[in-house]
Amino acid sequence: MSNTTSAPRLDGKIAMITGAAKGIGFATAQKFAREGAKLSICDYDEAALKEASEMLKTSGATVESFVCDVREEAEVKTFFDETMKAYDRIDVLVANAGVIPEATIEQASSDLWDDTFAVDGKGMFLCGKFAAEIMTKQGSGSIVFLSSISAYGGQVGQAVYGPAKYVAAGLTKHFAIDLAPKGVRVNAVSPGTIDTPAVDKLSDDGIKKVVGMHPMGRMGRPEEIANGIAFLASDEASFITGADLPIDGGYLAQ
Ligand SMILES: NC(=O)c1ccc[n+]([C@@H]2O[C@H](COP(=O)([O-])OP(=O)(O)OC[C@H]3O[C@@H](n4cnc5c(N)ncnc54)[C@H](O)[C@@H]3O)[C@@H](O)[C@H]2O)c1
Repeated sequence: MSNTTSAPRLDGKIAMITGAAKGIGFATAQKFAREGAKLSICDYDEAALKEASEMLKTSGATVESFVCDVREEAEVKTFFDETMKAYDRIDVLVANAGVIPEATIEQASSDLWDDTFAVDGKGMFLCGKFAAEIMTKQGSGSIVFLSSISAYGGQVGQAVYGPAKYVAAGLTKHFAIDLAPKGVRVNAVSPGTIDTPAVDKLSDDGIKKVVGMHPMGRMGRPEEIANGIAFLASDEASFITGADLPIDGGYLAQ
């Protein structure tokens, strides 16, 4: 008879997750806790963060939570400083916080560009940079950036979002090369359209069209992204760095 129980994938790891109050970030926090990680989570939505943190604690997770806007360097620094104070090391960063604006080229403005890149560009960079500093000193660590199919495939209405997610794809390659000799792995996941609060904000027409572009004919679930993130973050992926894993129901296979 085969033994079906396996050791928790992230047992004892200290994991930071940005934008963890909702959607993919929250599902990742739940998955990481089930896999034995101790969590440090942040979000700029204080009420949602409090609720998420309480839910995680109720299910038995060890969680520190911090209100932090990843657009603000001082707040990101405090998030990392406080996490180090609490746990004294950081094994995993999931740079997840992002916004998903829907705009065609005609609708897009320079303000929308700046606002989007402040989160999906600068916010991802700052979190990656602070994590890299700490992990390099430790000589170990794993960073996972949230990219998107929108970075790779053109879609109507993603004239700003698509280029912004390309930042995560670029950070992954360049951080991976710099940090590989220092024992730090850096990867990305590129989700297809996933059923989260961010996607609820898109127009019905927009969602219908995008879902129709996924060969599996449905949206993904946040847990399906969390599973891929947990694998890349774990020691099971010990020889994987610089990879960008599509989790997209076949979207990028077309
Ligand atoms: N849902 C999808 O279809 C999809 C597809 C591809 C990639 N992604 C990426 O996955 C990530 C999560 O997306 P989601 O669908 O779960 O979104 P979501 O809106 O459901 O959740 C995002 C979370 O990030 C937080 N957040 C946003 N801006 C922040 C900031 N400046 N500082 C701190 N927290 C902030 C929000 O409050 C929220 O809790 C994003 O990077 C997104 O680009 C999502």
